[in-house]
Amino acid sequence: MPGQSQISVDLLGEVIHQAAEVGVRGFILFGIPAKKDPTGSDSCHENGIIQQAIRAVKKADPDVLVITDVCFCEYTDHGHCGIVNQNTGRMDVDNDATLQLLSKQALSHAEAGADIVAPSGMIDGMVGAIRQSLDGAGFSHLPILSYAAKYASAFYGPFREAAESAPQFGDRRAYQMDPAVDAGQALREVALDLREGADMIMVKPALAYLDVLSQVRDNFPGVPLAVYNVSGEYSLVKAAAERGWIDERATVLEMLTAMRRAGADMIFTYWAVQVARWLKDQ
Ligand code: PBG
Ligand code: ZN
Repeated sequence: MPGQSQISVDLLGEVIHQAAEVGVRGFILFGIPAKKDPTGSDSCHENGIIQQAIRAVKKADPDVLVITDVCFCEYTDHGHCGIVNQNTGRMDVDNDATLQLLSKQALSHAEAGADIVAPSGMIDGMVGAIRQSLDGAGFSHLPILSYAAKYASAFYGPFREAAESAPQFGDRRAYQMDPAVDAGQALREVALDLREGADMIMVKPALAYLDVLSQVRDNFPGVPLAVYNVSGEYSLVKAAAERGWIDERATVLEMLTAMRRAGADMIFTYWAVQVARWLKDQ
């Protein structure tokens, strides 16, 4: 992705300091392990890449907010967001086996020092399972940000390349939402996750789903609401700007303003540091 890189643990402190300089003090971490396997075992290991990264960020600045993405797609050799039954001959995520490992992964993030865990796999029951495992280990105070309404979107393409997490067979439509279904489905997903104990909710992607974001806002006032301005949305603007076809600054500020207007309390964006610089210079 233009302007984005995979960052090794030894360079993380420097990146955090540069961002903090312009006022960006919250981060979401995605891990890419040296070795992938069918169960994504690196993701649950106390010395896994993400656990090391959490500790490195906290060491660089104990006061920054560390959110971790809780999922398996970057850690599994097949690239799916859970444990896959490969002998059925079709794409088949084993929901309950995945819940057990998700609980384990989230707990290991908590133990490494994460401030918020953010399950992103749209696995049924993921919030409840993680809540139970955190509560049972003394982390009842740790918030869960659920990717509650996440669509099976073409806009994730650049991220999958950057994070080496494209599914090796099949697609994610068995667990992510169908873009063609009415927004009522998103409201039901949000209600379920809140009942299971989610503290914050996310809608993803952003631009093509501002109607969903706005309806979630209206139906769940007071619930902290995040939106994820995803890789494809970012790359489209970057590519056009590189060609001189669009004014990047004006376009980005307009897009982020629209996300805010539609009801987002928080915006996850690859432009965070850039926007902070623009606003500072203004
Ligand atoms: C998967 C995950 C995805 C993104 C982050 N984590 C989506 C996917 O590959 O299905 C996409 C982020 C982006 O496009 O910026 N758990
Ligand atoms: Zn995933």
